[in-house]
Amino acid sequence: MREGSHVIVLPFPGQGHITPLSQFCKRLASKGLKPTLILVSDKPSPPYKTEKDSITVFPISNGFQEGEDPLQDLDDYMDRVETSIKKRLPELIQDMKLSGNPPKALVYDSTMPWLLDVAHAHGLSGAAFFTQPWLVSAIYYHVFKGSFFVPSTKYGHSTLASFPSFPILNANDLPSFLCESSSYPNILRIVVDQLSNIDRVDIVLCNTFDKLEEKLLKWVKSMWPVLNIGPTLPSMYLDKRLSEDKNYGFSLFTAKSTECIEWLNSKQPSSVVYVSFGSLVILNEDQMMELATGLKQSGCFFLWVVRETETNKIPKNYVDETGEKGLIVSWSPQLEVLAHKSVGCFLTHCGWNSTLEGLSLGVPMIGMPHWTDQPTNAKFVEDVWKVGVRVKAEADGFVRREEIVRCVGEVMEGEKGKEIRKNAEKWKVLAREAVSEGGSSDKSIDEFVSMVC
Ligand code: UDX
Repeated sequence: MREGSHVIVLPFPGQGHITPLSQFCKRLASKGLKPTLILVSDKPSPPYKTEKDSITVFPISNGFQEGEDPLQDLDDYMDRVETSIKKRLPELIQDMKLSGNPPKALVYDSTMPWLLDVAHAHGLSGAAFFTQPWLVSAIYYHVFKGSFFVPSTKYGHSTLASFPSFPILNANDLPSFLCESSSYPNILRIVVDQLSNIDRVDIVLCNTFDKLEEKLLKWVKSMWPVLNIGPTLPSMYLDKRLSEDKNYGFSLFTAKSTECIEWLNSKQPSSVVYVSFGSLVILNEDQMMELATGLKQSGCFFLWVVRETETNKIPKNYVDETGEKGLIVSWSPQLEVLAHKSVGCFLTHCGWNSTLEGLSLGVPMIGMPHWTDQPTNAKFVEDVWKVGVRVKAEADGFVRREEIVRCVGEVMEGEKGKEIRKNAEKWKVLAREAVSEGGSSDKSIDEFVSMVC
């Protein structure tokens, strides 16, 4: 164990944030640090240690009482989480100091920028962790500084933003809240505020790797002390091997893997479309119907994740009608699925984690972005890395069944599909290189370790 090797890691309470930060914890532990992972939860429980005692997990309250619904009002939720952390975290830091195990740094989710001052007030370095690509953060930074805004007559402008070595962005490619600022003012404020104090942050961590956004990175590195440490996938998946060690998650949303994997085992290589929209996206009933019909009409096998709260939107008799062609599950072991040889394509909402997972495991993608950073991530998939296609939506955002059929055909069978597969293979290798010993992200983690020790 290294001298002074204790760090605190604090993700925002959401699957797309807990996953990358907890995986980062494991990387730190593998480098000899002693991380404490603080999880904001609606069911706080006593602290526990992960297998091999490498990480202490500390669940703390999100500020809601049992029976209260935290998802009623976002502003209230954010306020209560902030109040709860601001009360509990200093107590924990104090206890750690008294027990002779003082933390050196606080790695905190960029969506909670006020944690920088909490870290500094207790003599800790503050490391902001970004769970979105740099291009998205750069756009939010310019919005925050007032040097970029989306013209109100957005549809009259075909070009809305241009960045070095990046295809020109139009309204469909920008992070959604910028174009729909009046629809989600509080979410817009949260995403833009991530950049509000970046000029004072001690270390800026991002779940990406240097080659993914090479040109933009020059600018980013000239601005802030940036370390790209991703993709934060467990290395066993990057090796496309499943090790016996199942300790890759933190029992959060862990799905029973057997059903999906047994089903995939019975299929031919690259014959299955895996469909998932992450932990938050809600499709309306018409869109679910259209997607369901498109999948059926594509003629391909499909493994579709439909969260329990959404299953009532699956058309009646659909499961019987599709029979062996499709398997619908409420949650999947996504990495295990993407690493399976039967999966030939990933129809995704393009959440940044899913995008990185598809890219790192070399799975061609169909992007069907919904909101937030997803349209910009889909732009990367289709036009920058060229590892997939993006569905073309109608003006109102609706995606027709014919479009699903077209995209599945293009990626699974068409000429373009071959090119996409080649590119996917290339990016898979680059992702693995980045996190392998001596790769750019591995070196960044070493640098982080020496900075905090
Ligand atoms: C959100 C945003 O979309 C993302 O861009 C942001 O930066 C983080 O928060 P989310 O919408 O949940 O996240 O999607 P995503 O980022 O893709 O994360 C979902 C995670 O859940 C992935 O790591 C994925 O592997 C996992 N997952 C999803 C499963 O393990 N099983 C499933 O069935 C579905």
